[in-house]
This record gives sequence, structure tokens and C-alpha cells, in this order.
Amino acid sequence: MSDLPRHIGIIMDGNGRWAKKRGAPRTVGHQQGLEAAKRVIQRASELNVQCVSLFAFSTENWKRAADEVGFLMSLIATHLRAELDFYRKNGIRVIHLGDISALPQNIAREITDIVAETSAYSRMTVALAINYGGQDEIIRAIRKVPADSISTLTAEAFGAFLDAPDLPPVDLVIRTSGERRLSNFMLWQTAYAEFYFSDELWPDWDGEKFDLALNYYKSRDRRFGGIK
Ligand code: FPP
Repeated sequence: MSDLPRHIGIIMDGNGRWAKKRGAPRTVGHQQGLEAAKRVIQRASELNVQCVSLFAFSTENWKRAADEVGFLMSLIATHLRAELDFYRKNGIRVIHLGDISALPQNIAREITDIVAETSAYSRMTVALAINYGGQDEIIRAIRKVPADSISTLTAEAFGAFLDAPDLPPVDLVIRTSGERRLSNFMLWQTAYAEFYFSDELWPDWDGEKFDLALNYYKSRDRRFGGIK
């Protein structure tokens, strides 16, 4: 497919509502949301998309009920352990975005392990945003800038202090479930991103819906502040 976005960021929204519609607990929505994430990663991998970033747990999600937070953490940890083979077979490098220091030890370990075990793969990168907030990432990056280079700092040089400096800028943001906001997701990297909003709830997503988002992206005229 031509005109493919190099980097796609996905805000996977609507898991709770999907479950509620079925009279099921919210956790069932998250479980099905994980299945949708796998379908979409699979499709992105078939199409040779360079990078997909998934917003799995935000710095604000700690406000949810302890049960739900605990469930999400163990769902993510179990997924990372169980799907290592999937990532390996597809040549996918997994990286982490966010503050790993504030995550429970067991999930931090699963993240460190999968990142290390897939670090040599280069067909595609899946960036998992877990305990991630765009403002938090920028603040953590600012703290890493040497004091004597602040006055000459350029945007390009600053980018090197972000969580994943080698990723290309986000070309396309997808958000599901009818919400139309960025919710603190990759604030720096989405400066010139296109946005695709879908009314479908995330657990209903699959490769076909992903293709529709890519068709929309193809139709956009990207000018990056210039004139064509
Ligand atoms: C938003 O729906 C979804 C989340 C906060 C969690 C997303 C996590 C996953 C899909 C699992 C992890 C995925 C990977 C790839 C490791 P919501 O709960 O806010 O839904 P609602 O707005 O309908 O309540």
C-alpha cells in the first residue's frame, strides 16, 4: 500500500462501554480490547507499517478502581509473557513508553524482559505506552537536558531526551469510541499528525477497520505548515 503512515498512534477507547452494552464487567471489555490490539498489530505487520504505538495505560488511569487497575496490569503482564513468540515470529521489536519506575515490579520485569528479548528485531516496532502521559514524558525529558545546553536547545535536540527518540513522528492518530481528544497521548510526537476518529468501540476493531483508517490517511493532503 502506498502512502502508508510510518508511525500510527492508537488510543484504544471504549472497552468499558463495550462490556456494559453486554451486561458484562469492564474487565471483559479490556480482555476483548487486548484481542483487538492483537488483530490490529497483525494487520499492521502484514502491511509493513514501521511503528504502532498503543496507549495501554495512562498516568491518569491510576484514578480507576483498584480492581480494574490490578486487572489491567496483570492482563498486560500476561500478554507480554504469552505473546513473546508472536512478536518474535513477526520480527517485531517491542519498546516501552512511559515511567517504568512507578509500575509494579512484576509488570516492570515483563516489560524489561520483552524489550530486551525483541531488541534485535527490525521489521516493525510496537511501542506500548504503559503508565504514560505526554506531559509527564516532556517533564522527564526536560530533567535530562544538561543545564549548560538549555539556552541553545533546539526542538530536534530536545527530541533525543524523549522516551523513544529513534521513532519517526506520529503520522496518524486513531481514536475509537466517538471521543475526539488527545488525552495526553504523545503530545510532542503528534505535532503534525492526522487524526482518524471512529465511533466503533475498540473491542470491535479489526484489520478491516484499520484499513479504513489507512484509506482516510491516504486521502489527506499533508503540508506541514507549508503551501503546495
Ligand atoms: C480505554 O477504554 C482502554 C483502556 C484504559 C485500556 C486499554 C488496554 C488494553 C486494550 C489492553 C492492553 C493492550 C496491550 C496491547 C498490551 P475505557 O476503559 O476507558 O472504556 P470506556 O471509556 O468505555 O469506559
